[in-house]
Amino acid sequence: MSKTLITNEKNLEIAAKLLKNGDLVAIPTETVYGLAVDATNGRAVASLFTVKGRPNFNPLICHVSNIEMAQKYVIFDEISLFLAKTFWPGPLTLILPIIENCAIHPLTRANLPTIGIRIPQGPAQKLIEKCGFPLAAPSANTSGRLSPTSAELVENDIGKKINLILDAGSCKIGLESTIIKVEKGKIFLLRPGGILAESIEHATLKPVLRRDQRASIEAPGMLPSHYAPHAMVRINATDIKPNEALLSFGNSKIPPPPICLNLSKNGDLVEAAVNLFSYLNQLDTESISCIAVEKIPNTGLGEAINDRLIRAASERKT
Ligand code: TXA
Ligand code: MG
Repeated sequence: MSKTLITNEKNLEIAAKLLKNGDLVAIPTETVYGLAVDATNGRAVASLFTVKGRPNFNPLICHVSNIEMAQKYVIFDEISLFLAKTFWPGPLTLILPIIENCAIHPLTRANLPTIGIRIPQGPAQKLIEKCGFPLAAPSANTSGRLSPTSAELVENDIGKKINLILDAGSCKIGLESTIIKVEKGKIFLLRPGGILAESIEHATLKPVLRRDQRASIEAPGMLPSHYAPHAMVRINATDIKPNEALLSFGNSKIPPPPICLNLSKNGDLVEAAVNLFSYLNQLDTESISCIAVEKIPNTGLGEAINDRLIRAASERKT
């Protein structure tokens, strides 16, 4: 059973402690309530996907408390930095390239080379300060349902699945953040939201281009090539062929080739989700032509894991 606590200093401490332990906490932001976890903790992020019941691993927005903290994870171009300085803290998410050896877990960013990042207003910003690590937080609703704008709506939807909801009343904006990506000096709107495109145009004196004006920027969940390794991927493998690496699962029945990793020897799908992207990256070496993947059950997080693997296996654009 979840506990709803009023957002004050003492309860922010309680929330920070839970988050440090890899737990999930529903938090108020100026846009909508978010379901927050430590963005660097793969296991915590995997359990977030379980609670949201997402059938796929969408990249999550990372929330930081100041621009210096953001710079530990992403690289700002000049326009993005101007937008951050102008609109943060606030309902603006910037899609930015990650630095090398970025500590944000690959599951948080769906293995993309970019992260959606923002500084939220109010107690959420204070909470991140207390934590000292970025919080990954999608809207605190079951996948496919409306984003909650009050603690009560969170409680009614996912209340039974989480330990703490921080209540700070109704969200000021009640609409998700605007998502912007700057590419080669051009500003693209990936999702309309709390900050109007006009306000961004007014501040930058540049046009904000809509998504249909640049077909190649799509919702990241639709971008299979971003998830595919260089090697071919063969799913539901029951044997191993020459020059193949093996990604096995559970009590594997396939004789392991020289390059082989097991997503979870115990058959734990949460552990498998945590390892998925980093193991695919590790197996994707020049000496192999294909990664054979043993069958993964399609239950729980297995559905999201299989969604990714099917995309990786089918996508062969270069
Ligand atoms: O207002 C908000 O943004 C709320 C509060 C909690 O901050 N959060 C939110 O998160 O709406 P979520 O997970 O419901 O939506 C995240 C959106 C998705 O559409 C996702 O595709 C996009 O952000 N996104 C995240 N990372 C991305 C990336 N690297 N590139 C492009 N889009 C990204
Ligand atoms: Mg959402």
